[in-house]
Amino acid sequence: MKKILEMRNISKEFPGVKALDGVTFDLGEGEFHSLVGENGAGKSTLMKVLSGVYPFGSYGGDIVVAGEVRQFQTVRQAEEAGIAIIFQELSLVKELTVAENIFLGKEPNRFGIINWSEVYQKSSQLLKDLNLPLDPRTKVENLGIGQQQLVEIAKALSHNAKLLVLDEPTAALTESEVETLFEILKDLKARGVGMIYISHKLDEVFMMSDRITVLRDGRTVGTNNAADLDKDKVIALMVGREVGDIFPTTTHELGETALEVKNLTAFDPDVSEKKLVDNVSFHVKKGEVLGISGLMGAGRSELLMTIFGAWRGKHSGEIIIDGQKTPINSPADAIRNGIGFVTEDRKRFGLILEQTIRDNATLACLKQISGKFITDRARETAATREVMRSLHVKASSPMTIAGTLSGGNQQKVVLGKWLLTKPKVLFLDEPTRGIDVGAKQEIYSEINLLAEKGLAIVLVSSELPEVLGLSDRILVLHEGKTTGEFSRSEATPEKVMAAATGESKTLI
Ligand SMILES: Nc1ncnc2c1ncn2[C@@H]1O[C@H](COP(=O)(O)OP(=O)(O)OP(=O)(O)O)[C@@H](O)[C@H]1O
Ligand SMILES: [Mg+2]
Repeated sequence: MKKILEMRNISKEFPGVKALDGVTFDLGEGEFHSLVGENGAGKSTLMKVLSGVYPFGSYGGDIVVAGEVRQFQTVRQAEEAGIAIIFQELSLVKELTVAENIFLGKEPNRFGIINWSEVYQKSSQLLKDLNLPLDPRTKVENLGIGQQQLVEIAKALSHNAKLLVLDEPTAALTESEVETLFEILKDLKARGVGMIYISHKLDEVFMMSDRITVLRDGRTVGTNNAADLDKDKVIALMVGREVGDIFPTTTHELGETALEVKNLTAFDPDVSEKKLVDNVSFHVKKGEVLGISGLMGAGRSELLMTIFGAWRGKHSGEIIIDGQKTPINSPADAIRNGIGFVTEDRKRFGLILEQTIRDNATLACLKQISGKFITDRARETAATREVMRSLHVKASSPMTIAGTLSGGNQQKVVLGKWLLTKPKVLFLDEPTRGIDVGAKQEIYSEINLLAEKGLAIVLVSSELPEVLGLSDRILVLHEGKTTGEFSRSEATPEKVMAAATGESKTLI
């Protein structure tokens, strides 16, 4: 196999963190090479070194592209050398259209005048070639995160890349979108494009990989042919130990009903009369984990947002907390009434990336920790440190800036922030998206522990094993309506999927 990339002895330090320590990595023409490792192992950093985000001079070691040592100063220079990267954090400009984003900074022009009809025509063609069901004239802010991810992919592929880096590309995609993506990747592979694939989803890693490299704590643990590995072996290499069963096995002691929702309906804010949540009723008891299952578009996040007072569209229904009818008109109302919400899009709602872990973690509970009027920094720091310890957040101190944490560790900070509000009811929307197996296990046992302590938990997850493994009861939504409800012992993947796709006709 012809080598198109060699990274030799790469090192990269941040203040107080050695993110990469002598990493070696290579890629052949048309090769699919997966890069795996725990949160904070250094995967994204390695790819940012490769793609010019961290310019030559800020890292140690050599990057050799097509046999030549290259010293990229900018992302543009790496792009010109045929390297395209889809970053873990989406980087689209929300106010612009799909097509404008795809050609941003590379608009076809004549004498400085942008040829917009060409921009739209080329984008249409590209989206068609890639089989992406998107209108180039849609503004990105009107797309869901799944669709935005597809725009990122189109953007990365718009300049004939020979080497494509995908950093957690499927975290927000539905199963059918993942299938579409892999069709595209297969096609690119056949055309000789080399791919570096980063994912915590090992099923995907094994779908196409020729080789797999495992990083741990900034070092290469090893590079092996995928054929010589299996999932358990990869996990053991990543974590440095056997993980075993990742779901806790306990039965919860159920108490009184903590939250009851009656006839909740929520309308699309943009399309009037379109119901995204349609007459849903449910309850969750103290000490219970209620899973909510459904495909993308089932209305799960909308349901939680509405209860939380964060839905911008029209809505109706009744919310009863601890037996009391409780109107909730804003997130502040919800928090005051003991509801916590770990949202699905942590960048948009969960974290202020420029601020410290401490300021983020204590944001939702300032009053409780610091007293009504004065903030007590020392107590805040101590509380943050405690949460960081119990959730195993990998960071040097509570004063670390949230934006510098690895994706998985950012997610743990969001969870920690809500735990500090000491909620009675906790909503978790995709709580382990982008989180490694070891950290998942930690979060699962934390969820279980919280339920044992009497918290009522509502868990939305697209990962069926997660819902099945954690929930005492599962509610299934399809196109905004309840299409199934199963106790832990009744629930099987087949039954839940049938209800989620609307195939089981037993509407309840
Ligand atoms: N800009 C930065 N400033 C300071 N530290 C950083 C910065 N970027 C990354 N780090 C640190 O470097 C280490 C490696 O982070 P990196 O983002 O590469 O991990 P990762 O393997 O991609 O993890 P994940 O699976 O969670 O995305 C972490 O300890 C992280 O906190
Ligand atoms: Mg990363």
